[in-house]
Amino acid sequence: MKLYFAPMEGITLYPLRNIHKEMFGNALDKYFTPFVSTARTYKFKKREQRDILPEFCSSFSDYKNEVVPQIMGNKAEQIVWAARKMHELGYNEVNLNMGCPVATVVNRHKGSGLLEDTDKLDEMLFEIFDTIDKENLQIKFSLKTRLGMHDDSESLEIMKVLAKYPASELTIHARVRDDYYKGQIRPEAFCRAVRVYRENGGAAPIVYNGDINSASDFQKISGIIDEHCGEIKGSTDNKCISLVDRFMLGRGLIINPALAREIAGGEVLKADELRVYLDRLYDAYAEYIPEDQNVIFKMLEHWAFIHVHFRDCEKYLKAIRKSRSKGEYKAAVTNMFSSCEFVI
Ligand SMILES: Cc1cc2nc3c(=O)[nH]c(=O)nc-3n(C[C@H](O)[C@H](O)[C@H](O)COP(=O)(O)O)c2cc1C
Repeated sequence: MKLYFAPMEGITLYPLRNIHKEMFGNALDKYFTPFVSTARTYKFKKREQRDILPEFCSSFSDYKNEVVPQIMGNKAEQIVWAARKMHELGYNEVNLNMGCPVATVVNRHKGSGLLEDTDKLDEMLFEIFDTIDKENLQIKFSLKTRLGMHDDSESLEIMKVLAKYPASELTIHARVRDDYYKGQIRPEAFCRAVRVYRENGGAAPIVYNGDINSASDFQKISGIIDEHCGEIKGSTDNKCISLVDRFMLGRGLIINPALAREIAGGEVLKADELRVYLDRLYDAYAEYIPEDQNVIFKMLEHWAFIHVHFRDCEKYLKAIRKSRSKGEYKAAVTNMFSSCEFVI
């Protein structure tokens, strides 16, 4: 089994990746960066470029294989350019974002907007893989997608197209674009998509993504997947060829940074390590965000997930939200840890 840290724009940036890797990274095989946009100018935005520089992979002894930069784009030429850049930076894999549901992205036919027209998608992927092959570009090219734009039946056409190309790995978020990240996940539709992908010759290992927020979610979802995806057997050796044993965790790891460790059979999250993790994150953000207030805003993105570990914490959370200086913030956090029961 392999476990991955999902890309999350604005959240899984290099400070978090480094601190998480150091404290909880043993159970994770790869960390995906939030997307870096391609552009007509063939330049990355400064802020996005910083996040993928190898010197900011300080906790990764093998960043080339452990960190995967993600690309957002809709033009084969620009995407291949970005892949070349990632190769120059030493990365062994790049990932293409085919799943972002945000309207401004979709309207530009990027992210999950790529799924709307499967003929265009086919043409784009042909050009990408053809160029990579002709240039003998030594980089793995993986894909992260959804089950469709509006309806999961769209996944059948999408999977037929994806099956034609030698992606190194295919991550499928078990929702359609219209679901965004909310509502019921669709594990059965996910398995149907895997089946179509395999029946059409798709060979990439499949990664499941969606709503694994606890070890029991993992048990439940992996059980459904085993049941529904385990049906297809290879014709020669009767081996299960649709097995899914790779899982990408997103919000679950923000809620509980020790989730992968727990899923892998290790210890559950302890209050004192969460405290150290949050303190280290604060300090790391403070190194590049000048104002206390803005560092606190960044930490509040974490508290929006993490507060679930503290019973009856509303009053204490309010104090964290209202803090305006580092001193106020740290005092409010200390109060939270000392006054509220820690639950996991
Ligand atoms: C705030 C936020 C930012 C995200 N940014 C990205 C991104 O940059 N690239 C991407 O492929 N997915 C992005 N995602 C999607 C996640 O990678 C993941 O697919 C999604 O959160 C579902 O997995 P989960 O249920 O384990 O969180 C983002 C999700 C959230 C909530």
